[in-house]
Amino acid sequence: MKTMPNFLGVLFVSTGLMLAQKPDFHPNQLAPYVPSPHQIVERMLELAKIKPGEKLYDLGSGDGRVVIAAAQKYEAKAVGIELSNRLVKSSQEEIKRLGLSANASVVHGDVFDADLSDADVVILYLMRDSNNTLKPKLEKMLKPGARVISHDYEIEGWKAQAEEKVDAFKRNHKIYVYRMPPQK
Ligand SMILES: C[S@@+](CC[C@H](N)C(=O)[O-])C[C@H]1O[C@@H](n2cnc3c(N)ncnc32)[C@H](O)[C@@H]1O
Repeated sequence: MKTMPNFLGVLFVSTGLMLAQKPDFHPNQLAPYVPSPHQIVERMLELAKIKPGEKLYDLGSGDGRVVIAAAQKYEAKAVGIELSNRLVKSSQEEIKRLGLSANASVVHGDVFDADLSDADVVILYLMRDSNNTLKPKLEKMLKPGARVISHDYEIEGWKAQAEEKVDAFKRNHKIYVYRMPPQK
């Protein structure tokens, strides 16, 4: 009987060590890195109806493709927030290489710490539970009229203004478009 707690202890310690050694592991990791296909990025940005100079945040910006496209095609002030140091560095290099530094940037950080009060558009490609976890922050921080565009996962309890199915990269993707209601 005495061996059971020891076994569990070893299991917990070794699992902890394995996670600690994974270079990109973070306790607030909301989703793994899976880039949105470019076709989906294009459609999300079209559905967001971005005007030049509007502020866009991609929460968990991966390789920066959404931020880059928003700055390049729509002249948005686009900001990516990303936990992975490696992805932050590569997207910053790409933004510089493309000469987009005036409008596009990626910051290393946790979306839970981000100030989103000036956002006109928020892009999400996380997971269902992550959207639910972020929902109170979005409800508290976003201004009336701000648009939230979510790839594949809805925000439970919010009524989407539009939902669209798009075939890309050998599967069917879903895009949800939300608009923050006027203040009560
Ligand atoms: C599914 S990928 C989406 C990447 C990009 N938005 C796109 O659509 O191509 C999710 C990204 O969110 C990042 N991420 C996960 N949790 C995060 C957090 N708490 N704060 C910032 N970034 C996070 C991951 O590292 C990953 O790059």
